[in-house]
Amino acid sequence: MSEPNPLRNDEVSLPDHERFGFSRFASHPFFEEVNRWLVERVASVGSRFVDLACGPGAVTELILQAIRERGRGLVYAVDPSLAELDRARRRITSQLVQFIQGNAENLSRLVPPVDAVVFCNAIHLINDKTHVLAEIRKVLRAGGTLAFNTTFFKGCYPPGTERFYRYWILRAAQYLRERGISVLRTSKEETLQWVTPEEYSALVTSAGFVEPTWRLHEVTLSPESLEDIGQFSLFVRGALPQVPLEIGADALAQAVRKAMDDVKIQGGVPRFWLQFIAKSPA
Ligand SMILES: C[S@@+](CC[C@H](N)C(=O)[O-])C[C@H]1O[C@@H](n2cnc3c(N)ncnc32)[C@H](O)[C@@H]1O
Repeated sequence: MSEPNPLRNDEVSLPDHERFGFSRFASHPFFEEVNRWLVERVASVGSRFVDLACGPGAVTELILQAIRERGRGLVYAVDPSLAELDRARRRITSQLVQFIQGNAENLSRLVPPVDAVVFCNAIHLINDKTHVLAEIRKVLRAGGTLAFNTTFFKGCYPPGTERFYRYWILRAAQYLRERGISVLRTSKEETLQWVTPEEYSALVTSAGFVEPTWRLHEVTLSPESLEDIGQFSLFVRGALPQVPLEIGADALAQAVRKAMDDVKIQGGVPRFWLQFIAKSPA
């Protein structure tokens, strides 16, 4: 008997950067909700913004909306991935946005001083957070704002939900084993550099930021959204180290609903986003 193909029919021939990009997960309503919450809190601090790790541009669009409502401003949208920048450029054509290829690690060489740096859903990917926070400080004007969020941090699992992720990986590994592929036992937390909110607070404070505030924002991840994040290349590499992307993504997609059945979670899996804001000293 053949296995169900987790790809939808129209996706079989998509190029890698379409199939394994971040856009599908980013199109779920809860994703806009958490990012909008953060952008609304920094939109009034000035007119010059960096959207750091802009990816396919979902957050850039929110910042642009805020700028248009206020009548002036500009956004420097920075990302190392040409494929993601390409998607963002196709999505947003505005003279108020300048797309720049580069890493957070070099930010001060990429952009002029700004009023706010918005850094959504990417800080967990950074190995040297101290260095990147120092780079962000260099580009913020005195009294400027850093706003970041992530759902890959220690503390992201509401009580009783962590088991789902263990079963998700177990089910995906089982699918791969059945096809002769073994999975390394690297902890996801090690791979993705997970940090507690208190540790983030200590990191931003030692980088010289002041007034750090954070909150946990709870959302429900639908099975479809979990299948979609399981197609994102960086997620697949973190969850299933050294497994080829295509089969790793297949394994994660078909494992979502089985793992939900295993742990008897129905409808969706609750999850926290960390929303974090701090200031550059005035
Ligand atoms: C999950 S996506 C988030 C995209 C966007 N910020 C959002 O929330 O929709 C993570 C992005 O981080 C980018 N990224 C990875 N490493 C980076 C680094 N060292 N500096 C800047 N961006 C990085 C990736 O290319 C990817 O586009």
